[in-house]
Amino acid sequence: MAPKILVIPGSLRTNSHNVRLAALAGKELSLAEADVTRISLADYALPLYDGDLEAHSGVPHNAVQLKRMLAAHQGVFIATPEYNASVPPLLKNAIDWMSRVRERGEAPLAVFKRRAFALGAASPGGFGGMRSLLALRQVLEIGCGALVIPEQIAVPHADTAFDDMDNLKDEHLTASLKTAVRALIDTAQRIA
Ligand SMILES: Cc1cc2nc3c(=O)[nH]c(=O)nc-3n(C[C@H](O)[C@H](O)[C@H](O)COP(=O)(O)O)c2cc1C
Repeated sequence: MAPKILVIPGSLRTNSHNVRLAALAGKELSLAEADVTRISLADYALPLYDGDLEAHSGVPHNAVQLKRMLAAHQGVFIATPEYNASVPPLLKNAIDWMSRVRERGEAPLAVFKRRAFALGAASPGGFGGMRSLLALRQVLEIGCGALVIPEQIAVPHADTAFDDMDNLKDEHLTASLKTAVRALIDTAQRIA
């Protein structure tokens, strides 16, 4: 059966390079016969994590909904911007809140541990968001116990990297994306 893969761009910005990368990843995943859902974190607005807020009001409904969205998929592709050599707060905050959700007596972080993650980044800079990829890998693997596949894609000079059809102009980058997509599907099927 086709694995269900969730695609999450880590930016809300109009004309975001990472929204574009996420859309392309979604297209490649569909071509590889995955059942793809692409979401926007704009639909899961969350306050900045605050322990007092959690103690008084519990985990916000949107964090529970986002965690359930992950739980409904076997694999996740995240396209992250790089802010000051790390993960942007939008994405880190969403992960932090999700890491606080406990439903029906499930083990802590269970939703991260039972699915495969693949990462991509796009930046107008020359490193292509590579440091954000490393930081996000640390958060997910070491912080949340997730299985993050080694295959990933970093798109440098993202402002000129896409053509009019929103495909990547560079054939090596296109090959990297296809490799990551294939590995994500294979891993998601294996651990599901
Ligand atoms: C606060 C801030 C910090 C940034 N730091 C970096 C950085 O460390 N490395 C980098 O490559 N780009 C950096 N950028 C530029 C982003 O890569 C760029 O704004 C990019 O377009 C954001 O991703 P998006 O197009 O998906 O929104 C930074 C941007 C902002 C707003």
